Amino acid sequence: MKFFVDTANLSQIKEANDLGVLDGVTTNPSLMAKEGIKGRDNIMAHYKAICDLVDGDISAEVIATDFNGMISEGKELAKIDDKIVVKVPMIKDGVMALKWFSSNGIKTNCTLIFSAGQAILAAKAGATYMSPFIGRIDDMSWDGMELIGQIAHIYGTQGYETEILAASIRNPLHIVKAAEMGADVCTCPLSSILGLLYHPLTDIGLANFLADHEKVNR
Ligand code: G3P
Repeated sequence: MKFFVDTANLSQIKEANDLGVLDGVTTNPSLMAKEGIKGRDNIMAHYKAICDLVDGDISAEVIATDFNGMISEGKELAKIDDKIVVKVPMIKDGVMALKWFSSNGIKTNCTLIFSAGQAILAAKAGATYMSPFIGRIDDMSWDGMELIGQIAHIYGTQGYETEILAASIRNPLHIVKAAEMGADVCTCPLSSILGLLYHPLTDIGLANFLADHEKVNR
């Protein structure tokens, strides 16, 4: 399973990249706004800065919600760098845009997926990735992981090539479960990736090893 970091914060992206296990980055308009990035030129420059930091796919989301707007915005985004993946919402014009981008060699990430039906449409339209929002489903007391498993089963049975990108990850257990359920990619906050590191028995074991070494080497 590939690891993407889900943020537009350059220092967090760098920290995740320095860990050596990062395969890409996802952003969305909320994450860009959180970093105070505004205005077309600044937004484009920020995507370029992310591309320069990370060797992997970088999702940049369109703001337009009509077919023609999404195509012209997506073409502009794709010109920034070969790493750019145009992120398109799961709406009717979005499906049409996914098909256009896939027929014209532009990578895509279909976002805001909450059902298996939407996942089938994204695959049929040729999306490179499609993003089911696990945490937001769990927030409604439904089971986000069940959806990942259902989509993985359908994609396997049908031979769809679209990659399942588990998104809206809230904790390290979500990452483990997404891997178990067959997600191809998990996009996570840096805190959830770092959360995978910790186990008290690791800390206790290491302290004991170092103490034993010290006893005979002082
Ligand atoms: O990038 C899309 C997704 O990961 C958003 O997550 O935490 O806002 O539900 P969240």
